[in-house]
Amino acid sequence: MIIAVDGPTASGKGTIAKALAAHFGLPHLDTGLLYRAVGWQVFLDGGNPDDGGDALAACGFPDGLLADPELRTERVGGLASRVSIHNGVRQALFERQRSFATQEGGAVLDGRDIGTVIAPDAEVKLFITASTQARAERRWAEMRGRGQDVSLEDIVADLEARDRRDRSRAIAPLAPAPDAQVIDTTALDRDQAIRFTIEAVETAIRGE
Ligand code: DC
Repeated sequence: MIIAVDGPTASGKGTIAKALAAHFGLPHLDTGLLYRAVGWQVFLDGGNPDDGGDALAACGFPDGLLADPELRTERVGGLASRVSIHNGVRQALFERQRSFATQEGGAVLDGRDIGTVIAPDAEVKLFITASTQARAERRWAEMRGRGQDVSLEDIVADLEARDRRDRSRAIAPLAPAPDAQVIDTTALDRDQAIRFTIEAVETAIRGE
């Protein structure tokens, strides 16, 4: 069984995907991390993330880079969003994601284009969303918890810029698959969102 979990930045899709993987005993791939590794590698190479050639060259990043805590920062999230617009980058990362999705026994993948491009054949497709304000507040609390001093306004501006770029890019833009179930977590806390989503998946599996 393939479970595709898509959605915008800070929608809670990563947390939900991890919880689904644990609940259903499936391996999980955070595909955003691959784009983050490319974005960070471009920076380490002294390249330009908006240049398709520089971004493509960075797709050969060493696997060890995926464990670099720097990848989780907002700065690298922005670089990832910029390198992700290049067709060459998306193609270079396709096979790795596709073979993870189609492994024996199934998998959970989260990202932007899992239900539309990577696994249009997924048995379950979810699109997790939440208002910009709710997403910004969650991200703000998370960053404050890590001791980072950032303003809510800056986070709202950053989320809006990334949403705009992810939604408007020509290739594989962020959008729910026509057969995806859209789940809005604005009014839900973490545990409620996880419980609600597990129930949604169980219902989908039963074919109701
Ligand atoms: O999910 P995330 O914030 O870690 O993703 C970082 C960026 O990577 C996101 O802004 C767009 C890009 N991305 C993508 O284009 N396709 C995916 N499947 C996952 C992420």
